[in-house]
Amino acid sequence: MTLKEQKVGIIGLGAMGHGIAQITAQAGAKEVLVFDTDATQLNKQIERIAKGYDKLVAKEKITESDKETFLSRIKACSSLSDFSSCDLVIEAITENTAAKENLFKELSGILSDNCALATNTSSISITRLAACYKNPQKVLGLHFFNPVPVMRLVEVIKAMQTNDQTEAQGCEFAEAVGKTPAKVKDFAGFAVNRILVPMINEAAYALYEGISDAKTIDNTMKLGANHPMGPLELADFVGLDVILSVLEVYQENLSPERYRPCPLLRKLVEAGHIGRKAGKGFYDYSN
Ligand code: CAA
Repeated sequence: MTLKEQKVGIIGLGAMGHGIAQITAQAGAKEVLVFDTDATQLNKQIERIAKGYDKLVAKEKITESDKETFLSRIKACSSLSDFSSCDLVIEAITENTAAKENLFKELSGILSDNCALATNTSSISITRLAACYKNPQKVLGLHFFNPVPVMRLVEVIKAMQTNDQTEAQGCEFAEAVGKTPAKVKDFAGFAVNRILVPMINEAAYALYEGISDAKTIDNTMKLGANHPMGPLELADFVGLDVILSVLEVYQENLSPERYRPCPLLRKLVEAGHIGRKAGKGFYDYSN
């Protein structure tokens, strides 16, 4: 089934979900149903998608009429029961195991047997989530990167229960929305975050231990390792709460010592200084 024939549902319209909805509508899906428990957030994020298209219009990458077509494919839903005729559903809700498990249980009573159910989790076991769904063989991980419209990769993760057909459907979807799929195993953090998050934690330790100030540490990695953003700036961009929760999953599943979160990272999260979205993290964005 091509993307043009597919109805795709996105649950959770935060930083990741809105980006996934944006590229899916742009790539030509028949319909993109979007749901968020917070109705205000839902409308705000649809406006954000429209602004994303506006930027593409301004750069003459799409026309005003393309923008209207893409937006017309996006349907805001007030209930998950609207997702019953979807071909693919991608959940991008908060990175919380219990919340995702409950959602998968709820979706068991709603989605059709043909529907594939993907999670955009960055660290939780797909196998554990699949066990909460009525058709575990239809569950997979589709892990996108922030900002979704720009980053070229999607990690495609098979749970222990996922069948080959579902994995192939995930790879085809990633390609249809213009991304390169990478098949990776269901281990905490998969490939990218397994490498990236410890690097961010190490940068937090470098700051904590006084190796240098935040800006200098970031500049060393930008100028010395050619990274587009420094690790502390990237942590603020992703969210320090997300980084901390990923490290805690590694501690639980891999090694408590090796992935011990930097005390400074923990303190910043406790203070609510979780990065750009809060106006403060390793840097201050209030001005
Ligand atoms: N949405 C859409 N497009 C965006 C965008 C956004 N949020 N942010 C930037 N862009 C576009 C710009 O419009 C611009 O497009 P053109 O080339 O067509 O003009 C292009 O991206 C480059 O942007 P800028 O010139 O403004 O800025 P930049 O060159 O500094 O790039 C960046 C910005 C792409 C974010 C770059 O700094 C970068 O790649 N940073 C690293 C991001 C990264 O590592 N992401 C992964 C995070 S980990 C993750 O997501 C996984 C997880 O589970 C936690």
